[in-house]
Formats: sequence, C-alpha cells, structure tokens
Amino acid sequence: MRSVLIVDYAGRGHAFADLFVRTDPDITVHYAPGCAAIEHDRIVSVPWLDLYDPDPAPMVRYALDAGVDLVLVAHPRPLANGYVDAFRAAGLPTIGPDRSAARLESSKVFTKDLCSRHGIATAAYRWFDEPGAAVEHIRATGAPLVVKCDYSCQGNGVFVCDDVDEAVEAVERLMVTRDFGPGGARVVVEEKLVGEEQLFFVLVSGEQYVMLPMAVDYPRSEDGNAGPMCGGMGAFCPHPGETAEVVGRFEEQMLRPLLAAATAEGIDYTGVLYADCMLVGDRLYLIEINARMGDPEAEVVFPRITSNFTEVCRAVLERRLDELPPLELSAEHFVDVSATQGPDGVHPGWPYGEVGRGHPVTGVRDVDPDRCQVFYGSVRLTEEDELVSDGGKVVHVVGRGDTLEQAIDHAYEGISKISFTGIRYRTDIGKVLPWE
Ligand code: AMP
Ligand code: GLY
Repeated sequence: MRSVLIVDYAGRGHAFADLFVRTDPDITVHYAPGCAAIEHDRIVSVPWLDLYDPDPAPMVRYALDAGVDLVLVAHPRPLANGYVDAFRAAGLPTIGPDRSAARLESSKVFTKDLCSRHGIATAAYRWFDEPGAAVEHIRATGAPLVVKCDYSCQGNGVFVCDDVDEAVEAVERLMVTRDFGPGGARVVVEEKLVGEEQLFFVLVSGEQYVMLPMAVDYPRSEDGNAGPMCGGMGAFCPHPGETAEVVGRFEEQMLRPLLAAATAEGIDYTGVLYADCMLVGDRLYLIEINARMGDPEAEVVFPRITSNFTEVCRAVLERRLDELPPLELSAEHFVDVSATQGPDGVHPGWPYGEVGRGHPVTGVRDVDPDRCQVFYGSVRLTEEDELVSDGGKVVHVVGRGDTLEQAIDHAYEGISKISFTGIRYRTDIGKVLPWE
C-alpha cells in the first residue's frame, strides 16, 4: 500500500496522518479536508472537500482519482452519513464502521437496546419521543437520574441530575427548546451510576481486535476540573491506572460480548471503537460508545505507537488482527495541552459561546521539535499564507518525555511559544487528575 485517504480534520486527523508517515516511510497520506497548514512532503491536505457534505460522492471521486489503496474514515459525521458504505461500494478498501455500525455512536437508544438484548450491563433506562411522558417518568422515579439526548452530542446534551427539577429542566432544554439541536427529539432517562469511569480504545475488525493504550482525558474547560464539559482540554498517556486487570476485565465483561452481539445482529465493525464505561463494584457498565478515536486522546495515544501502521491497517482489512504481533509502543510519556480560542474582546470564546476566528497564530515554528509536536486543530491558512485561528480548539501542543513530569514541562514550554488573541489553556494538565 502506497497511499491512504484519511477523512477527518483537526487534532485527531493530524495525529492519524502523522502516525502513518512516521511509522511507514513509503506511505503518502491524503488528508481530507485536513489542514493546508501541515508542512510534510507526504501529507497532502484537500481543503476543498467538505466533511459535513451529506453526499459522499465528491470524496469518493477524489479517492478514485488519487488512486489511494486504503481509506480510513475517522470523523463521526461522515461515518453517520454512510461514507464508509459509499467508499466500499466504489471498490475502495475502507476502514471505519459503516452506516449501520456507526449507529453504535449515533444512537444511544440503539446501543442500549442492543446491550439489553445481549445481557451487557448498562444503566437501567427508558427512552421518550415526547416531553410530557419523560417528565411523568422522572417524577415517578425520582432523582438522581441522567437525562441525555439519543444522538451523541460529543459530551454535550448529557445532564447528570441530583434532583427532579434539574431533570425536568434538562428535558425542557433538550426536547422543547432544542438547545442541543435535533438530537433532542428523543431522550434517554437513565439510572445514575456511581463508580469509576474508565475509557478504552480498541482497533476492531469484526470480532478481532487490538487494544490501544488507555489515556487520561480532561473534559472540563477550566483549571481544577471546573467549568463546563467541553470534550477535552488536554490528555496524557500512559494512563497510571492501566493494568492487566483493568484491561482484561474490559475485554471479558464488555468488549468480547459487545462484538459478539454486534456480529449476531449483522453489524460488521471495523475501525476504532471507543468505549466509555463505569466500574461499579467489580462490574463494568457501558455508558456510551463512540465509533471513532477520541480527541485529544489520539494526540497522546498515537505518538506512542511505533509499529508500521499501514501493516496494522492491512491486517484489519484482511481480518488478520489475531495473527499480528503485539503493537509496539514507545515507553515515553506524552502530554497534550489544547490551546483554545477564549475571549477575544468581541466573542466569549470556546466553549462559552460565539468563537472569534481569523486571529493570527504565531510561534508554532519556535516550538522545539525534539521535545514537542504541534497538531493542528481549528486553524487555516489565509490567501497570504498566514496561519490563523478558525474555531475552538486551535492547536494541540504535545510534549514528550521519559517521565510524565518531563512531558508536562515540555508541553508547557512549547505552548508558551504560541500566541494568538484570546489564547486559553488549562495550566494543570497532568498535574491534577481529572477525577480529583
Ligand atoms: P456520555 O456523553 O453519555 O458519555 O456522557 C457524558 C458523561 O456523563 C460521561 O462521561 C459520564 O461522566 C456522565 N454520565 C453519562 N451517563 C451516566 C450515568 N448513567 N451515570 C453516571 N454518569 C453518567
Ligand atoms: N475526548 C472526548 C471525545 O473525543 O469524545
């Protein structure tokens, strides 16, 4: 295989592209839409392609014209829109869940119903298409409860409620005022689980799989784990709690039953599966599945992989993951600090409201490449080739080191070189744990 098309953007897509070119000296990566600012002679961004286009045809045409040997769809929107099905129909070897498999992320009701049918533990739940019935159920059950929209909103649209009024208000916001968009048409009301949250990443091919390293993610926007949930202000890897017992329990109680259940229901999953679980006593419960790698977890997990990733992908396609030697991992530590677009004097910034765009981003070239790597999030090049901010998570600065402490120092040394109007980042990534 000489070339791959990665369908994604932002930090996760950049980390995928980097994983291929770093571990396979012969591969060229087409990265759509990617980021035109990436300077690498084997990474070709395709900024005119639109990831949100419901019609996969333009991407399929590009892949055929470019003659790629492999396609990897990594972003949830094209996955939910059936891009994998379209690439495969055009005869292109493709990794990523097809439209029916991607429902494991795009519908919580679908996933929870599947779990119930196959005896996989998940919080007791009911779902509603009508707010009155949801409120009636909430009042009858009493708090604590969790109210969430059916369609995954990437960490938004989930309300962990300790009293009934809060839960009723959540229904109002999700179903009536639709604060979180059309996904609020159907809500799930479920039991609140109390335990230890554990996240796992797995590369799957049918019922075969390879576990990827665990990572610690910081979902809260402010220092000290304060502020709203925002899908990740940073991450680090290795995870201090990753043990053979933790991973083994996940494989035994969750992963193997889940893959068997999917197969039994005609779902043939390929690609990364990200399982969010809660350990209650010694029983693992499924909170949700994402049919993709996490972001910013990808930015700290992928740099540890040193196996030729093209060969790993070939094994996924040929259903030979079982025969693959164990994934080779660097012993180094990686810490991601996400530089986000905060208030710029006009807009409140991410994740609080409107985000200012077009602010010049400087200093990326001053970051020491031996100590840090910069993955591009929401940035673009202007017609004058100037790097400017273009959304919430602007750049990810990933420090590396022989110890966690060294990697933290390198990440913060790196991010101190970067500036743009309204830059905001957490100063405690790796220093406090997100569950503390
Ligand atoms: P989700 O988008 O479903 O992963 O939910 C976002 C976060 O809400 C999770 O990472 C958990 O921390 C929390 N959460 C979701 N469902 C539950 C539940 N049933 N019990 C306790 N916490 C939950
Ligand atoms: N870091 C959380 C996510 O990717 O959904």
